[in-house]
Amino acid sequence: MKKRLTISGLALGVTLLGVGFSNTFAADETLRSLAEKNGIYVGAILNSQWFSGGLPGNYEQIHKSQFNVVVAENEMKFDATEPSEGRFSYGNGDKMVKYAQQNGMRVRGHALAWHSQVPGWVNNYRNDKQKLLKVLKNHIQNVVGHWKGKVAEWDVVNEAISNNEPMWRSQSVWYQGIGPDFIDSAFVWTHAVDPDAELCYNDYNLEQGISPKAKAGFLLEQVKRWVKNGIPIHCVGSQTHVEDTTTDKHFIGSPDSLRALAKELAKLNIKLKITELDIGFKSGINVSKSDLERQGKTFREYLDIVLEEPNADTYLIWGVSDKWSWLGGLNRQKGLIYDDNLKPKPAFDSILVRLQTFEPPKDTTVTDTTKQDTSVTDTTKQDSTIAIHQTAGPGSVTTHVAGHTLFIAGVKSAKVEVFDMQGRPVFSGKCETGALELKGVSEGVYMVRIREQSASLVRKIAIK
Ligand code: G3I
Repeated sequence: MKKRLTISGLALGVTLLGVGFSNTFAADETLRSLAEKNGIYVGAILNSQWFSGGLPGNYEQIHKSQFNVVVAENEMKFDATEPSEGRFSYGNGDKMVKYAQQNGMRVRGHALAWHSQVPGWVNNYRNDKQKLLKVLKNHIQNVVGHWKGKVAEWDVVNEAISNNEPMWRSQSVWYQGIGPDFIDSAFVWTHAVDPDAELCYNDYNLEQGISPKAKAGFLLEQVKRWVKNGIPIHCVGSQTHVEDTTTDKHFIGSPDSLRALAKELAKLNIKLKITELDIGFKSGINVSKSDLERQGKTFREYLDIVLEEPNADTYLIWGVSDKWSWLGGLNRQKGLIYDDNLKPKPAFDSILVRLQTFEPPKDTTVTDTTKQDTSVTDTTKQDSTIAIHQTAGPGSVTTHVAGHTLFIAGVKSAKVEVFDMQGRPVFSGKCETGALELKGVSEGVYMVRIREQSASLVRKIAIK
């Protein structure tokens, strides 16, 4: 496994047992179980509506079965945790921490020093540097101290860099009152309170290149300086609120640019985390099936960074369902992996299949892929499918491919979906007779998902 994770054994047990299948299929693999297999964290925020009980029950069921890292949409921010001076409010944050503990999830804390969602009383001290330093230090000591040992990582500083040119953001009470030193101070104070927590600088537009003129280029110079000066920073959070490039030709971000940042950070021994991913379309446009499939491909390309770069470990999405998303305020829509009815979108499939098919590079041995493929395509002698998760057991389903026909035994009626190895859907149909012609699917290796009611299994098949 390329990454070290501390994952509670309880977590997986809860996930699988909680599903409770009553038919012949083994429990479905989830993003979560696959993330754990791959040694990474895959997560989504808990939307603000969850805290007030305003979401349907299947929201939470999906959340805890699919994700292993969680962050609060608003509830650990400054205005939520210290709404009036010196009076701290931890109720909602505690609720999330308890939920995470019960479900074996990692907790991200978001965010300590940010220009936004700062309560009015802080702004009263805008011209008093010493007082503002005390305010920020006291806030960090209390909040980080309260969740010490429970919040595994903090966004210590959020969005401190200007959006338009590479310089510090001047419209910030912390920058205006203290100067850029507020950043160094915030890291040092947080580390002093909880030396075991991972501390991140978090920002958006970091997927837009690392040239000195780009935000990430400016940030890299600061990270170098922080590291050189012994400032306790361990990670950069890339929010990654991106737009589908086909519906917005001007959007300049790309997974390649973010990967370049990850590689530069690796040289400094700093991690990269994707912390707030969404991939929206322009509001008002009609989003077609192929748009959603392209969106899935982009979700997968960002996931590749986390799977493939040794210093990347987190893939966190800023929302669960398109129905509860902040994106409308940004003139974007449909940027998440579940639709308005909490049904998985092609992006979900794309992520799931990528997690299923990813094979980490071996350190010492070279994988003999030729051999593997040969056994997959030997349809005459044996079952031509390779199970890639545990489906064995009495009464389990068996599959077999001959030419373009998929044979399924052990199930009466099943929905069949075929994906290419990039997670793009290439076929879908219903199998009611035990055999299904995979029309239009060309030769090659694919993942097939067979669903019966709420259960499913996924296997690799070869068509020749
Ligand atoms: O708290 C009030 C509540 O009292 C009132 O009834 C309600 C009525 O609209 O508004 C509530 O405040 C809202 C708050 O969310 C909590 O729901 C604010 O109006 C609203 O502006 C705020 O939006 C949040 C936004 O941050 C604020 O900057 C979004 O939910 C949240 O998704 C978004 O998250 C940020 C990350 O923290 C940082 N990166 C960008 C990301 C998206 O903007």
